[in-house]
Amino acid sequence: NLFDFGMIGLGVMGRNLLLNTADHGFSVIGFDKDEAKTAALEAAATEGTTVKGVPDLAHMVQQLQRPRKLMMLVPAGKPVDDVIESLLPLVEKGDVIIDGGNSHYTDTLRRVKYLRDKEIHFMGVGVSGGEQGARTGPSIMPGGDLEAYSHVKPLLEAIAAKVNGEPCVAYLGKEGAGHYVKMVHNGIEYAIMQLISESYTLLKHAGLNNDELHETFKKWNEGALQSFLVEITADIFLQKDDKTTARLLDVISDKAGSKGTGKWTSQDSMELPVAVSVIDSAVAMRTVSGYKEERIKAAALYNESGAAITVSTEEWIKQVHDALYFGTILSYAQGLAMLYQASRELAMDIPLPDAVSVWRGGCIIRSTLLETFTQAYKNSPDLSNILLDPGVAAIIKSAESNTRAVVAQAALSGVPAAALMSSLAYFDAYRSERMATNLIQAQRDYFGAHTYQRTDIPGTFHTEWNH
Ligand code: 6PG
Repeated sequence: NLFDFGMIGLGVMGRNLLLNTADHGFSVIGFDKDEAKTAALEAAATEGTTVKGVPDLAHMVQQLQRPRKLMMLVPAGKPVDDVIESLLPLVEKGDVIIDGGNSHYTDTLRRVKYLRDKEIHFMGVGVSGGEQGARTGPSIMPGGDLEAYSHVKPLLEAIAAKVNGEPCVAYLGKEGAGHYVKMVHNGIEYAIMQLISESYTLLKHAGLNNDELHETFKKWNEGALQSFLVEITADIFLQKDDKTTARLLDVISDKAGSKGTGKWTSQDSMELPVAVSVIDSAVAMRTVSGYKEERIKAAALYNESGAAITVSTEEWIKQVHDALYFGTILSYAQGLAMLYQASRELAMDIPLPDAVSVWRGGCIIRSTLLETFTQAYKNSPDLSNILLDPGVAAIIKSAESNTRAVVAQAALSGVPAAALMSSLAYFDAYRSERMATNLIQAQRDYFGAHTYQRTDIPGTFHTEWNH
């Protein structure tokens, strides 16, 4: 009796994804050197499902139906290459190896080519939704060759999250495209998380306590801001600490960690180039959060009380709501513009409408807004930036003046709101028919004879700048 699907790495993500697969009628086998993990896998299986854990890789590979379908969920980087090397003597032509972790797409490209020469399919597949998502239905972002995808499509569709009965998985393009889309997903995740944390501090500045913050975010989650991240934020304010009488959030250190995918999004955006300034701000603020010692010194040097908020608390909550909504749309807009450009520059053929549709359920950035974007792409599948969609423009315009009010107040009050400010600054540049960059061109020509173009006469010009 051969198994349908194999998993390498039985950490919580690997185990949960395998259990989810088994719950959908597939027979599954998992490998991990650690026998405690293989035992934990079998112990957690739903009654009546076929789930086996083995501590021997060859033993697992031999028991898979051909073409073999194997996924690895191991840390990005060398561990992925190590798994590939240990699999090579065991797999055969036509088998499909999937990397379901957060690998950089250039590594995926390299691995696709390496294995293609050996007639093995290698797919980079983004999986989002955390531990719970893996168990009950993640959002799945596969890239690679279409033939490989056809082998795993039924299985991925079965285990993915569903929105209106549609699975949150679709073929998202060639070679490294799956991991590219997942990287940008994470960049957007960073931006929205930063915007939410700025909204939190802006509301705290107006005196809201944790219960009021809970109520506010809970209410927001019932409206236009409905999203996984707003929903869990509402929950977080209520969590009690088990060591003190405080709320847990209030005793958590403000140094934010990161595993690198947000940084990759910023780095790769500059290669294209595409401006993703809200994501850049989010990455930078996590970095600043690490300057704890310096921030303590700077606080002593610079902290003077900033201006008080001038509107009523009720009005402030409404304004911050709109600012968060505005910033969130800008975060998606920048991420999607990056995918649009990368798809062309890197020849990945990423179907943007499908990427947005896949993000509607299961993943960390799932939100009601994605329905709006799905509609925008229905009207215009080749949209270079969702800000150009009239429906999105109407929403942006409705949130614009409150966003300006919040940004102005944050500046006057001295409350850090880098991502929010970036979103407004980007918007104001993007909607400018003529920017002030003519002056930059003049300066470049002045000191370096870099030449410039004119608005009235075609051609390239240089001036001896002596008045
Ligand atoms: C997901 C997440 C996940 C990511 C974590 C941690 O889609 O499920 O994006 O893949 O690893 O969110 O990211 P950082 O440690 O960089 O914050």
